[in-house]
Amino acid sequence: MPLKVAIIGGGGRVGSNAAFALQCGGIVRQIALVDVNQDLAEGEALDLLHGAHFCGDQDITAATTAEVADADVVCITAGSRRKPDESRLDLINRNVSIFKGILEDLQAANLKRDAIIFVVSNPVDVLTRLAIEHLGWDPSKVMGLGTMLDTTRFCSLIAQAKQLPPTQVRALMLGEHGDTMTPIWSSATVAGIPLATILSPNEQSQLAKRAAGSGAEVIRRKGGAGYAVGVAIAQVIHAIALDKQTILPVSSKVTGQYGMRDVCLSLPTVVGREGVIKAMEVDLWPKEVAGIQGSAKALADTWNKLS
Ligand SMILES: NC(=O)c1ccc[n+]([C@@H]2O[C@H](COP(=O)([O-])OP(=O)(O)OC[C@H]3O[C@@H](n4cnc5c(N)ncnc54)[C@H](O)[C@@H]3O)[C@@H](O)[C@H]2O)c1
Repeated sequence: MPLKVAIIGGGGRVGSNAAFALQCGGIVRQIALVDVNQDLAEGEALDLLHGAHFCGDQDITAATTAEVADADVVCITAGSRRKPDESRLDLINRNVSIFKGILEDLQAANLKRDAIIFVVSNPVDVLTRLAIEHLGWDPSKVMGLGTMLDTTRFCSLIAQAKQLPPTQVRALMLGEHGDTMTPIWSSATVAGIPLATILSPNEQSQLAKRAAGSGAEVIRRKGGAGYAVGVAIAQVIHAIALDKQTILPVSSKVTGQYGMRDVCLSLPTVVGREGVIKAMEVDLWPKEVAGIQGSAKALADTWNKLS
């Protein structure tokens, strides 16, 4: 069945880049951009629509929240950036309040009960949990982008450093999309060859550090992430649209994996048309398990501080 995707915050950098990646992918049938700045959403939709002749037969529009109540996937990229004298927690509380408003608008519009809510706005793991709890939504229908962007950064930077083909590098970042994200070297490979045999321990730690610091580096150099986060979002939406059952490091509510509960974070997760099919508990090195458990603790601490 063709998929209708709504992007709330679709006029912004992340939302519009995701829309472009979905247009280039040519898989979803409808893309609707919703933004408080309606003019911006209309401008982005118009620019995308102009390329339809070369890209594919999709319906790309700007829309209101009421007009996307029939969406199959609602991708939320709306949010604000930190002001100069603002703490991280102040920003979190401000984004939480914007995010709750969006959830309430979707509820008032009678969003389909089986719609998948796909959270991108930061702090993504906290907001993913909030979507489940504030709306009382089925946790299998809620996922966050989690460490998808960190994982593609990690793989792409490893490939660049060792002149390897990026699409054949497989190296996960798991846990929080944030300071405590955990590089997973135990299963990292290129074309089936363990990366630990190709990279020295020093190279491993430098590459993991560079990947974890990439968000800040991109913000410093160009204001914020766009293209890579756009293709990461499209990857998840295509897995849903085609019921691919792909294993992706999206954020979802854990249900006892590694002894964790009541938190959303990234584990290798099977994603398909029904949403989150299964978050997997796989064998990891003890320090990797400890890293992911550290993410769960950091996220629980942030959750407890929300006003
Ligand atoms: N999860 C990830 O990997 C990841 C990566 C990059 C950015 N992000 C997050 O994505 C969010 C957006 O970043 P950006 O660079 O696109 O910012 P941006 O400022 O370019 O865009 C945000 C958009 O949200 C809109 N908006 C604000 N409040 C709204 C509301 N109530 N309803 C509808 N639209 C609303 C704004 O008008 C703006 O167009 C931020 O929270 C950022 O931290 C997440």
